[in-house]
Amino acid sequence: MHSLRDLLQDAQQTGKAIGHFNISDLVLLKAVFAAARELGVPVLVGLSEGEREFVGARPIAAFVRSLREEFDYPIFLNADHTHSLAKAVEAAKAGFDSIVFDMSALPFDENVRQTKQAVEALKTINLSMLVEGEIGDIGTGSEIHDQAPDLSKGLSTPEQARQFVESTGVDILAPAVGNMHGMLRSMVRGETKKRLDLERIASIKRATRIFLTLHGGSGTDDEDLRKAIAGGINIVHINTELRVAWRHGLEQGLAKQPDEVVPYKILPSAVDAVKQVVSSRLRLFNEERHFAQGV
Ligand code: G3H
Ligand code: ZN
Repeated sequence: MHSLRDLLQDAQQTGKAIGHFNISDLVLLKAVFAAARELGVPVLVGLSEGEREFVGARPIAAFVRSLREEFDYPIFLNADHTHSLAKAVEAAKAGFDSIVFDMSALPFDENVRQTKQAVEALKTINLSMLVEGEIGDIGTGSEIHDQAPDLSKGLSTPEQARQFVESTGVDILAPAVGNMHGMLRSMVRGETKKRLDLERIASIKRATRIFLTLHGGSGTDDEDLRKAIAGGINIVHINTELRVAWRHGLEQGLAKQPDEVVPYKILPSAVDAVKQVVSSRLRLFNEERHFAQGV
């Protein structure tokens, strides 16, 4: 079985990206795993602190490990947006493969100091664990927003990115490059799309030569995603699109069978709706393309 680091390296060399999908129940996990297996591509499932609180860090780690072993399949588990060392250590001890240590709300120097400390602490628990650091402002909440926040002042610069990577020793960097967490209502209706600062992505890659994650992937223009991956993005996070599909699928399942009470007869509609979104995103992330810059 290849490690997550090996698979990221492969993705980098072939101009593909690994899809990261947030889950908070078995419907979402089932849908993500089924979509990835159908396409035969590696996949990352992630849980933020809130999602872990609901599902349980140890149970989900055991579940994902069991899928990986039973099917000999490259499915990996990420502790998404972790805001304290204590929660990061808890996830590392539970067996997560990677951790997003997110101190991006703090002043830059404090973010550097705490992230460096976390990298050191987490690597003593598991040397092969990948630690991702966050810089800049991409807003909060994988939810439907009424208004777009003004994130223009929180864009990451190549110089900041280089300094952050060199000072902290992170394995992966998540910069602010025009991306944003969550979706506007017009995005849910498919009327507008998020656009990315592709130049900025390319210059941050040149300045750091490190694996890059794009957060806030939901509702992003397909062509921008293709170019972002060609320019050096190695992981793309999708959450809100899945949550929207989960809700619609569940509503359909309930509406189709108004008297049904058996969960496994109602929930397949939700699994199918989420699976369609995951499949379409995974297809795009795994297209054959020319890659621009190596790590
Ligand atoms: O960490 C999670 C992601 O960045 C998801 O963002 O809800 O906009 O897809 P999204
Ligand atoms: Zn995120």
